[in-house]
Amino acid sequence: MANKQFPEGFLWGSASAAYQIEGAHDLDGKGLSNWDHFVRIPGKTFKETTGDVAVDHYHRFAEDIRLMAEMGLKTYRFSISWPRVIPDGTGEVNEAGLQFYDNIINACIKNDIVPMVTVYHWDLPQALVDDYDGWEHRRIVDDYVAYATVLFKRYGDRVKHWITMNEQNVFTMLGWMAGMHPPGDVANNKMFYQVNHHANMAHAKAVLALKELFPESKVGASHAFGPAYALDCKPENHVAQMNSNDMGNYWWMDVYAYGRYPKRTMKYLTEMGVAPQFEAGDEDIMKAAAAKVDFMGVNYYQTGVAEHNPIDGVGAAKEKMNNSGKKGSTKEVSGVPGMFKRPANPHLETTDWDWTIDPVGLRVCCRDITSRYDLPIVISENGLGAFDKQEENGRIHDPYRIAYLKAHIEELKIAIDEGSEVWAYCTWSFTDLLSWLNGYQKRYGFVYVDREEEEGSGTLNRFKKDSYYWYEKVIASNGAEMDFDPTTMK
Ligand code: BG6
Repeated sequence: MANKQFPEGFLWGSASAAYQIEGAHDLDGKGLSNWDHFVRIPGKTFKETTGDVAVDHYHRFAEDIRLMAEMGLKTYRFSISWPRVIPDGTGEVNEAGLQFYDNIINACIKNDIVPMVTVYHWDLPQALVDDYDGWEHRRIVDDYVAYATVLFKRYGDRVKHWITMNEQNVFTMLGWMAGMHPPGDVANNKMFYQVNHHANMAHAKAVLALKELFPESKVGASHAFGPAYALDCKPENHVAQMNSNDMGNYWWMDVYAYGRYPKRTMKYLTEMGVAPQFEAGDEDIMKAAAAKVDFMGVNYYQTGVAEHNPIDGVGAAKEKMNNSGKKGSTKEVSGVPGMFKRPANPHLETTDWDWTIDPVGLRVCCRDITSRYDLPIVISENGLGAFDKQEENGRIHDPYRIAYLKAHIEELKIAIDEGSEVWAYCTWSFTDLLSWLNGYQKRYGFVYVDREEEEGSGTLNRFKKDSYYWYEKVIASNGAEMDFDPTTMK
């Protein structure tokens, strides 16, 4: 048993994001976000779902945190809504917004739950978009740092773990390349890399600001790490794998950990005329911040495959992603001409939304980070989106989620035994919530929330799923007891 246990003080956690849970999108002085606008464009989200009410965490946070406490959760990762705190993105601060997060933080601490705060999880004040196109303009850097500094000053006495950015690679890729997130731009390579540079500078300057105020705090960014395997042992496919990891992962992680961009990709972008523009001093700031970053945040869901792709080969996907949950509806192979393409992996099962299920991939992430950066790791998200059904007696049996989490936690333990330093494992998510593009039917939580896509469709009441009881045992045994069968419970 002792052998199976995770390191002492390991943070068993779960995560959420403001827009996906809070609701109250225009209450108590909150400004509107880019997402409040985007979801109102017909056809952008599954069945036109919005986060207007979401799962009403704004009014039910005390109940949600009580459920976390009952489970024995060690850390809760949540994000703060920028427009709730600074409605216009810059300038006046909304005290009611700050108070709301004070209440959450205090409730966590009272229940021995370590609050882990994400500064930015995609909901940008719309005022900044109207004013200067948000992330597209360099002005965003100072506005982001001013916002982050408000949070650091207000909560830094109690919050010791900070995540500057959630999945910068995803919100920029879907926002400026795939047209699926705001601002809905397509194949805008030049802007995609520029926006990322702005986000990197915002991250870097925020790290420096935090360390100035609270040198002992722990800070990192959360990257959606999807490692690629080479299709086979053909040398050109190995090069494709290197290109894929360079462009899809190290482009961000090298910045967080080293304060520089990978050379091969920078050369490719320069040749294509889409490399980001720097201001004088940027490189020094990026390096100074990287030296102060404490951990690499990893959101892990799936791996991919890389295959050689000639210069006249396939480009970005033209088909829509599977947002309906109809398994097998993603068929298209996409890629970056001259760099790589992404065939399917015949060795892996997939979810109903066609995401590969690959527990070993989580170990690969940890091993890679340990070898490349030698930084501690926070798994800031990992979980299974599935169709859950509530039975007449109120129970929700989700053995598939338990199997998924168990297999991933086992691989995580192997990574730790192999030498990775892992501080935390946060599942996605604690309660069911709004999946940005996939509505409410793609459920991730330990706690079932009674609502469907249509507003007003349920009571919003909370119910513990089988996986809730299972994770409770995992936490209580510090990872040693993973075979508990919750269906035997009355
Ligand atoms: C991550 C995000 O991309 O994955 C979350 O940080 C998101 O906000 C989660 O919900 C799962 O993705 P999806 O698309 O299934 O909701």
